[in-house]
Amino acid sequence: MARVVLDSITRRFNNVTAIEDITFEVPDGEFWVLVGPSGCGKSTILRTIAGLEAVTGGNLYIGDRRVNDIPARQRDVAMVFQNYALYPHMTVAENLAFGLKMRQAEPSKVRDRIETVARSLNIAHLLDRKPRQLSGGQQQRVALGRAIARQPQIFLLDEPLSNLDAQLRDDTRAELKQLHRNVGITTIYVTHDQIEAMTLADKIVVLNQGRIQQIGDPQTVYADPANAMVASFIGSPPMNLLNSIYREGKFWIEGQAVSCPERLQGMLRSAQGQRFSLGLRPEQIQLVSANGLACLEGIVTVVEPLGREILVRLEIPSQNGSSTPVMNLCVAPAERPGVGDRLHLSFNPDHLYVFDASTGERRG
Ligand SMILES: Nc1ncnc2c1ncn2[C@@H]1O[C@H](COP(=O)(O)OP(=O)(O)O)[C@@H](O)[C@H]1O
Ligand SMILES: [Mg+2]
Repeated sequence: MARVVLDSITRRFNNVTAIEDITFEVPDGEFWVLVGPSGCGKSTILRTIAGLEAVTGGNLYIGDRRVNDIPARQRDVAMVFQNYALYPHMTVAENLAFGLKMRQAEPSKVRDRIETVARSLNIAHLLDRKPRQLSGGQQQRVALGRAIARQPQIFLLDEPLSNLDAQLRDDTRAELKQLHRNVGITTIYVTHDQIEAMTLADKIVVLNQGRIQQIGDPQTVYADPANAMVASFIGSPPMNLLNSIYREGKFWIEGQAVSCPERLQGMLRSAQGQRFSLGLRPEQIQLVSANGLACLEGIVTVVEPLGREILVRLEIPSQNGSSTPVMNLCVAPAERPGVGDRLHLSFNPDHLYVFDASTGERRG
């Protein structure tokens, strides 16, 4: 086991900068998740750590060893991809043993190790089968097992659950978390799925367009996002972002006024007429009666019952033909919202996020 250090890593392909100035340190034994939309550079980061991709700039360390010029084979890293490839002619046991045998481990040690790995992944009863006799989820567990069987220093996973159906993905995700608790190998996991990131990670690294947006534990990234990109990417349904203009202590959205929370008034004194993007999480909005302390109102356009709650899409009527702001909220089934209803919303001012409308930087 070992820590992994990326110090200002950049990778360019001709004139495409895939990743730029990537700096973070994963402490020995932790489980980190790299998350971001497709094309943001997640796989490139993983491939540079594995040694499958050279870096254009920066320093890369595994443990205390600088590995920039160390070939992949000598980095003691195991990687599992979305498209796992098991050896079809070998049994599960032979697949699991493959990496160990390549390293000329003693047969009795190989047997012990395979039994331990198979037990921890719930595949001990499948050892004599061939891959074609397994379900997709079982095959992926064998692929994970084959990678950890030889006890690498670092475990790298690139969207390993993407090919599984939803139920299996949830089950395998939980098993993966337990597996990490048992074996404690330093793990870096790549996904575009923010729920996977939230549920698995000790720390999340949010990426966009090849750059780090924020690093933090899941709860911090959710509650205290650094910018509008992180705010709208982490959390489901995503945070609502509404364009507004600030004037005299109020944010104006299509003629409706949202009072500026006291904590921000000093900072915004010189921001008269500036544009801000207001962030509100769907789960932090309440419905109130028409003459209650409403902050915003809008018309229901879509109703999506989920059983425990109902997702509602709302339009804020536009004043002068500009595009109509849309919001999502979660309401209790007892509210019985219907398409066309006018809803009055309120929220705790502590739950209002304010972002610079042009840069997306968090302002409050
Ligand atoms: N071998 C390559 N040649 C040229 N461009 C590449 C290569 N690999 C990745 N890229 C580019 O680098 C960016 C990041 O890609 P990638 O790391 O695969 O993103 P992700 O895994 O987050 O979807 C993309 O714009 C992609 O097109
Ligand atoms: Mg990728």
